Amino acid sequence: MITARTELLGDDPAGLSRAAEILSAGGLVAMPTETVYGLAADARNDMAVARIFEAKGRPRFNPLIVHLADAKDAQLYVAWPDMAQKLADAFWPGPLTLILPLRPEAGLSPLVTADLPSLAVRVPAHPLARRLLQRFGGPVAAPSANPSGRISPTEARHVLDGLSGKIDAVVDGGACPVGVESTIVGLTGRPTLLRPGGVPGEEIEAVLGQPLEHPSPDGPISAPGQLRSHYAPGASVRLNATELKDGEILLGFGAVDCALNLSATGDLTEAAANLFGHLHALDALNPNGIAVSPIPETGLGRAINDRLRRAAAPR
Ligand code: TXA
Ligand code: MG
Repeated sequence: MITARTELLGDDPAGLSRAAEILSAGGLVAMPTETVYGLAADARNDMAVARIFEAKGRPRFNPLIVHLADAKDAQLYVAWPDMAQKLADAFWPGPLTLILPLRPEAGLSPLVTADLPSLAVRVPAHPLARRLLQRFGGPVAAPSANPSGRISPTEARHVLDGLSGKIDAVVDGGACPVGVESTIVGLTGRPTLLRPGGVPGEEIEAVLGQPLEHPSPDGPISAPGQLRSHYAPGASVRLNATELKDGEILLGFGAVDCALNLSATGDLTEAAANLFGHLHALDALNPNGIAVSPIPETGLGRAINDRLRRAAAPR
Protein backbone atom coordinates (compact mmCIF):
# COMPACT_ATOMS: atom_id res chain seq x y z
CA MET A 1 0.00 0.00 0.00
CA ILE A 2 1.34 3.43 -0.94
CA THR A 3 -0.23 6.11 1.21
CA ALA A 4 -0.97 9.56 -0.07
CA ARG A 5 -3.94 10.53 2.01
CA THR A 6 -4.51 9.57 5.63
CA GLU A 7 -8.15 8.65 6.30
CA LEU A 8 -9.72 10.03 9.49
CA LEU A 9 -12.02 7.29 10.81
CA GLY A 10 -14.79 7.64 13.38
CA ASP A 11 -15.25 5.48 16.49
CA ASP A 12 -18.38 3.86 14.96
CA PRO A 13 -18.69 0.28 13.55
CA ALA A 14 -17.99 1.55 10.00
CA GLY A 15 -14.77 3.26 11.14
CA LEU A 16 -13.60 0.20 13.05
CA SER A 17 -14.31 -2.23 10.24
CA ARG A 18 -12.44 0.02 7.80
CA ALA A 19 -9.52 0.12 10.27
CA ALA A 20 -9.51 -3.69 10.57
CA GLU A 21 -9.65 -4.01 6.78
CA ILE A 22 -6.60 -1.73 6.41
CA LEU A 23 -4.68 -3.78 9.00
CA SER A 24 -5.54 -7.02 7.19
CA ALA A 25 -4.28 -5.53 3.92
CA GLY A 26 -0.90 -4.69 5.51
CA GLY A 27 -1.64 -1.01 6.11
CA LEU A 28 -0.91 1.31 9.04
CA VAL A 29 -3.65 2.60 11.35
CA ALA A 30 -3.18 4.92 14.30
CA MET A 31 -5.50 3.85 17.12
CA PRO A 32 -6.23 5.40 20.49
CA THR A 33 -5.10 3.49 23.56
CA GLU A 34 -5.57 4.56 27.18
CA THR A 35 -1.92 5.76 27.24
CA VAL A 36 -1.11 7.40 23.87
CA TYR A 37 -2.11 6.79 20.23
CA GLY A 38 -0.38 3.73 18.79
CA LEU A 39 0.65 3.17 15.15
CA ALA A 40 -0.77 -0.30 14.48
CA ALA A 41 0.24 -2.91 11.91
CA ASP A 42 -0.15 -6.70 11.57
CA ALA A 43 2.77 -8.06 13.64
CA ARG A 44 3.01 -11.15 11.39
CA ASN A 45 3.47 -9.13 8.19
CA ASP A 46 7.10 -8.11 7.49
CA MET A 47 6.15 -5.43 4.95
CA ALA A 48 3.56 -3.88 7.25
CA VAL A 49 5.98 -3.80 10.20
CA ALA A 50 8.73 -2.36 8.00
CA ARG A 51 6.35 0.46 7.08
CA ILE A 52 6.01 1.41 10.78
CA PHE A 53 9.76 2.01 10.98
CA GLU A 54 9.69 4.00 7.72
CA ALA A 55 6.73 6.20 8.69
CA LYS A 56 8.23 7.03 12.11
CA GLY A 57 11.85 7.29 11.00
CA ARG A 58 12.50 4.79 13.81
CA PRO A 59 15.83 2.95 14.02
CA ARG A 60 15.41 -0.75 13.20
CA PHE A 61 17.21 -1.84 16.39
CA ASN A 62 14.32 -0.48 18.47
CA PRO A 63 11.76 -3.29 18.98
CA LEU A 64 7.96 -2.88 19.12
CA ILE A 65 5.24 -3.82 21.61
CA VAL A 66 2.72 -6.43 20.46
CA HIS A 67 -0.85 -5.53 21.45
CA LEU A 68 -3.38 -8.28 22.08
CA ALA A 69 -7.14 -8.38 22.68
CA ASP A 70 -6.90 -10.79 25.57
CA ALA A 71 -4.37 -11.86 28.23
CA LYS A 72 -4.68 -15.53 27.25
CA ASP A 73 -3.45 -14.67 23.72
CA ALA A 74 -0.08 -13.61 25.16
CA GLN A 75 0.85 -17.23 25.80
CA LEU A 76 0.82 -17.88 22.03
CA TYR A 77 3.82 -15.58 21.65
CA VAL A 78 5.82 -15.68 24.89
CA ALA A 79 6.81 -18.03 27.72
CA TRP A 80 4.51 -17.34 30.65
CA PRO A 81 5.95 -17.54 34.18
CA ASP A 82 3.78 -17.19 37.33
CA MET A 83 4.88 -13.59 37.77
CA ALA A 84 3.43 -12.72 34.35
CA GLN A 85 0.10 -14.27 35.31
CA LYS A 86 0.06 -12.32 38.59
CA LEU A 87 0.73 -9.00 36.85
CA ALA A 88 -1.72 -9.73 34.02
CA ASP A 89 -4.44 -10.58 36.59
CA ALA A 90 -3.77 -7.35 38.45
CA PHE A 91 -3.22 -4.85 35.61
CA TRP A 92 -4.54 -6.14 32.25
CA PRO A 93 -6.25 -4.75 30.37
CA GLY A 94 -4.27 -1.65 31.22
CA PRO A 95 -1.08 0.42 30.86
CA LEU A 96 1.47 -2.32 31.62
CA THR A 97 3.87 -3.97 29.13
CA LEU A 98 5.68 -7.21 29.98
CA ILE A 99 8.96 -8.32 28.37
CA LEU A 100 9.10 -12.12 28.23
CA PRO A 101 11.04 -14.81 26.36
CA LEU A 102 9.79 -14.94 22.73
CA ARG A 103 8.37 -18.18 21.35
CA PRO A 104 10.29 -18.14 18.08
CA GLU A 105 7.78 -20.47 16.41
CA ALA A 106 4.94 -18.00 17.03
CA GLY A 107 5.14 -16.50 13.54
CA LEU A 108 5.82 -12.85 14.33
CA SER A 109 7.88 -10.74 11.96
CA PRO A 110 11.50 -10.66 13.24
CA LEU A 111 11.38 -6.88 12.74
CA VAL A 112 8.98 -6.64 15.71
CA THR A 113 11.62 -7.83 18.17
CA ALA A 114 14.62 -6.40 16.29
CA ASP A 115 15.89 -9.99 16.44
CA LEU A 116 15.97 -10.01 20.27
CA PRO A 117 15.08 -13.28 22.04
CA SER A 118 12.40 -11.41 24.06
CA LEU A 119 9.06 -9.85 23.16
CA ALA A 120 7.07 -6.96 24.65
CA VAL A 121 3.35 -7.74 25.09
CA ARG A 122 0.46 -5.63 26.31
CA VAL A 123 -3.35 -5.81 26.50
CA PRO A 124 -4.62 -2.22 26.27
CA ALA A 125 -7.74 -1.08 28.13
CA HIS A 126 -9.09 1.55 25.73
CA PRO A 127 -12.50 0.34 24.45
CA LEU A 128 -11.72 1.32 20.83
CA ALA A 129 -8.33 -0.42 20.86
CA ARG A 130 -9.99 -3.52 22.31
CA ARG A 131 -12.75 -3.51 19.69
CA LEU A 132 -10.25 -3.05 16.87
CA LEU A 133 -7.99 -5.83 18.20
CA GLN A 134 -10.96 -8.18 18.55
CA ARG A 135 -12.23 -7.40 15.07
CA PHE A 136 -8.78 -7.78 13.49
CA GLY A 137 -8.21 -10.98 15.44
CA GLY A 138 -4.40 -11.06 15.38
CA PRO A 139 -1.30 -9.62 17.06
CA VAL A 140 -0.76 -5.92 16.41
CA ALA A 141 2.62 -4.21 16.63
CA ALA A 142 2.20 -0.61 17.76
CA PRO A 143 4.73 1.98 18.85
CA SER A 144 3.52 5.45 19.80
CA ALA A 145 2.17 7.19 16.67
CA ASN A 146 4.72 10.03 16.51
CA PRO A 147 7.82 10.66 14.41
CA SER A 148 10.71 8.99 16.25
CA GLY A 149 12.15 11.16 19.02
CA ARG A 150 9.24 13.62 19.11
CA ILE A 151 6.41 14.19 21.61
CA SER A 152 3.96 11.26 21.87
CA PRO A 153 0.40 11.86 20.55
CA THR A 154 -2.56 11.96 22.93
CA GLU A 155 -5.09 13.24 20.37
CA ALA A 156 -5.85 12.29 16.75
CA ARG A 157 -4.71 15.71 15.52
CA HIS A 158 -1.26 15.21 17.12
CA VAL A 159 -0.97 12.03 15.01
CA LEU A 160 -1.94 13.91 11.84
CA ASP A 161 0.47 16.77 12.65
CA GLY A 162 3.37 14.28 12.71
CA LEU A 163 2.41 11.50 10.27
CA SER A 164 -0.25 12.76 7.84
CA GLY A 165 0.36 11.28 4.36
CA LYS A 166 2.69 8.61 5.78
CA ILE A 167 0.04 6.31 7.31
CA ASP A 168 -3.26 4.96 5.98
CA ALA A 169 -5.69 6.02 8.69
CA VAL A 170 -6.31 7.40 12.18
CA VAL A 171 -9.22 6.27 14.35
CA ASP A 172 -10.31 9.35 16.29
CA GLY A 173 -11.07 8.36 19.87
CA GLY A 174 -10.60 11.77 21.48
CA ALA A 175 -7.97 12.40 24.16
CA CYS A 176 -6.11 9.45 25.75
CA PRO A 177 -7.15 9.24 29.42
CA VAL A 178 -3.82 8.15 31.00
CA GLY A 179 -1.54 10.31 28.84
CA VAL A 180 1.85 8.64 29.46
CA GLU A 181 2.99 5.35 27.93
CA SER A 182 2.69 1.97 29.59
CA THR A 183 5.02 0.90 32.37
CA ILE A 184 7.50 -1.68 31.00
CA VAL A 185 8.55 -4.53 33.29
CA GLY A 186 11.24 -6.98 32.17
CA LEU A 187 10.53 -10.57 33.26
CA THR A 188 13.33 -12.37 31.43
CA GLY A 189 15.40 -12.34 34.64
CA ARG A 190 14.69 -10.68 37.96
CA PRO A 191 11.68 -8.34 37.57
CA THR A 192 13.03 -5.00 36.35
CA LEU A 193 11.39 -1.63 35.80
CA LEU A 194 12.54 -0.75 32.25
CA ARG A 195 10.27 2.27 31.78
CA PRO A 196 8.10 4.01 34.39
CA GLY A 197 4.61 4.59 33.01
CA GLY A 198 0.87 4.45 33.54
CA VAL A 199 0.97 1.84 36.35
CA PRO A 200 3.05 3.18 39.27
CA GLY A 201 6.04 0.95 40.12
CA GLU A 202 4.90 0.88 43.76
CA GLU A 203 1.68 -0.92 42.75
CA ILE A 204 3.61 -3.52 40.75
CA GLU A 205 5.94 -4.17 43.69
CA ALA A 206 2.91 -4.63 45.96
CA VAL A 207 1.47 -7.32 43.65
CA LEU A 208 4.83 -9.10 43.21
CA GLY A 209 5.65 -8.84 46.90
CA GLN A 210 9.22 -7.84 46.01
CA PRO A 211 11.07 -4.73 44.84
CA LEU A 212 11.70 -4.14 41.14
CA GLU A 213 15.28 -3.90 39.93
CA HIS A 214 16.25 -0.59 38.33
CA PRO A 215 18.73 -0.54 35.47
CA SER A 216 21.53 1.93 36.25
CA PRO A 217 20.99 5.25 34.42
CA ASP A 218 24.66 5.25 33.39
CA GLY A 219 24.74 1.61 32.35
CA PRO A 220 24.02 0.20 28.92
CA ILE A 221 20.53 0.94 27.55
CA SER A 222 18.42 -2.00 28.70
CA ALA A 223 15.24 -1.14 26.83
CA PRO A 224 16.61 -0.38 23.37
CA GLY A 225 14.27 2.56 22.86
CA GLN A 226 15.10 4.30 26.12
CA LEU A 227 17.29 6.89 24.48
CA ARG A 228 18.23 9.82 26.64
CA SER A 229 16.86 12.41 24.21
CA HIS A 230 13.24 11.64 23.37
CA TYR A 231 9.79 13.22 23.52
CA ALA A 232 11.54 16.37 22.35
CA PRO A 233 9.56 19.49 21.46
CA GLY A 234 11.19 22.04 19.10
CA ALA A 235 11.86 24.40 22.03
CA SER A 236 14.45 23.60 24.70
CA VAL A 237 13.06 22.32 28.01
CA ARG A 238 14.30 23.28 31.52
CA LEU A 239 13.15 21.30 34.57
CA ASN A 240 12.50 22.14 38.23
CA ALA A 241 11.99 25.80 37.35
CA THR A 242 10.85 28.11 40.11
CA GLU A 243 11.28 31.30 38.08
CA LEU A 244 11.35 32.21 34.38
CA LYS A 245 14.38 33.22 32.32
CA ASP A 246 14.26 35.50 29.25
CA GLY A 247 11.69 34.43 26.65
CA GLU A 248 10.70 31.23 28.46
CA ILE A 249 7.13 30.19 29.11
CA LEU A 250 6.13 28.10 32.14
CA LEU A 251 4.49 24.70 32.10
CA GLY A 252 3.20 24.77 35.67
CA PHE A 253 2.26 22.24 38.32
CA GLY A 254 0.33 23.28 41.44
CA ALA A 255 -0.64 26.83 42.41
CA VAL A 256 1.65 28.83 40.09
CA ASP A 257 1.23 31.58 37.50
CA CYS A 258 1.94 29.90 34.18
CA ALA A 259 1.15 29.60 30.45
CA LEU A 260 -0.44 26.17 30.95
CA ASN A 261 -0.87 24.12 34.12
CA LEU A 262 -0.46 20.33 34.24
CA SER A 263 -2.66 20.34 37.35
CA ALA A 264 -3.47 23.45 39.37
CA THR A 265 -4.46 21.25 42.32
CA GLY A 266 -1.25 19.20 42.13
CA ASP A 267 -3.00 15.99 41.00
CA LEU A 268 -0.48 13.64 39.30
CA THR A 269 -3.14 11.67 37.39
CA GLU A 270 -4.44 14.88 35.84
CA ALA A 271 -0.87 16.02 35.16
CA ALA A 272 -0.01 12.80 33.28
CA ALA A 273 -3.14 13.11 31.15
CA ASN A 274 -2.21 16.71 30.25
CA LEU A 275 1.55 16.25 29.79
CA PHE A 276 2.01 15.61 26.06
CA GLY A 277 -0.98 17.74 24.98
CA HIS A 278 0.38 20.74 26.91
CA LEU A 279 3.88 20.20 25.49
CA HIS A 280 2.41 20.10 21.95
CA ALA A 281 0.41 23.30 22.65
CA LEU A 282 3.33 25.25 24.18
CA ASP A 283 5.70 24.14 21.44
CA ALA A 284 3.27 25.50 18.82
CA LEU A 285 3.81 28.97 20.34
CA ASN A 286 7.50 28.79 19.33
CA PRO A 287 8.86 30.03 22.66
CA ASN A 288 12.57 30.53 23.41
CA GLY A 289 12.25 27.78 25.94
CA ILE A 290 9.76 25.81 28.03
CA ALA A 291 10.40 25.89 31.79
CA VAL A 292 8.63 23.26 33.91
CA SER A 293 7.66 23.45 37.60
CA PRO A 294 9.04 20.78 39.96
CA ILE A 295 6.95 17.59 40.02
CA PRO A 296 7.08 15.10 42.91
CA GLU A 297 8.94 11.83 42.19
CA THR A 298 6.18 9.49 43.44
CA GLY A 299 3.46 7.40 41.74
CA LEU A 300 2.73 8.72 38.23
CA GLY A 301 5.19 11.56 38.95
CA ARG A 302 8.01 9.13 38.12
CA ALA A 303 6.68 8.56 34.58
CA ILE A 304 6.07 12.30 34.12
CA ASN A 305 9.60 13.20 35.29
CA ASP A 306 11.12 10.43 33.14
CA ARG A 307 9.47 11.87 30.00
CA LEU A 308 10.40 15.44 30.97
CA ARG A 309 14.06 14.51 31.59
CA ARG A 310 14.23 12.98 28.10
CA ALA A 311 12.49 16.04 26.61
CA ALA A 312 15.12 18.24 28.32
CA ALA A 313 18.13 16.07 27.44
CA PRO A 314 20.84 17.46 25.14
CA ARG A 315 20.07 16.50 21.52
O1 TXA B 1 1.74 2.84 26.12
C1 TXA B 1 2.49 2.31 25.30
O2 TXA B 1 3.29 1.42 25.61
C2 TXA B 1 2.38 2.80 23.84
C3 TXA B 1 1.00 2.41 23.32
C4 TXA B 1 0.82 2.73 21.86
O3 TXA B 1 0.76 1.06 23.58
N1 TXA B 1 3.42 2.23 23.04
C5 TXA B 1 4.71 2.62 23.14
O4 TXA B 1 5.55 2.03 22.22
O5 TXA B 1 5.09 3.43 23.97
P1 TXA B 1 7.01 2.60 21.89
O6 TXA B 1 7.47 1.79 20.72
O7 TXA B 1 6.95 4.06 21.73
O8 TXA B 1 7.84 2.20 23.14
C6 TXA B 1 8.10 0.83 23.37
C7 TXA B 1 9.34 0.65 24.19
C8 TXA B 1 10.60 1.05 23.45
O9 TXA B 1 11.40 1.80 24.34
C9 TXA B 1 11.24 -0.29 23.12
O10 TXA B 1 12.62 -0.21 23.03
C10 TXA B 1 10.80 -1.14 24.28
O11 TXA B 1 9.46 -0.74 24.49
N2 TXA B 1 10.83 -2.57 23.94
C11 TXA B 1 10.08 -3.22 23.02
N3 TXA B 1 10.41 -4.52 22.96
C12 TXA B 1 11.40 -4.72 23.86
C13 TXA B 1 12.19 -5.86 24.27
N4 TXA B 1 12.02 -7.06 23.73
N5 TXA B 1 13.13 -5.66 25.24
C14 TXA B 1 13.30 -4.44 25.80
N6 TXA B 1 12.59 -3.33 25.45
C15 TXA B 1 11.66 -3.47 24.50
MG1 MG C 1 7.35 6.07 21.68
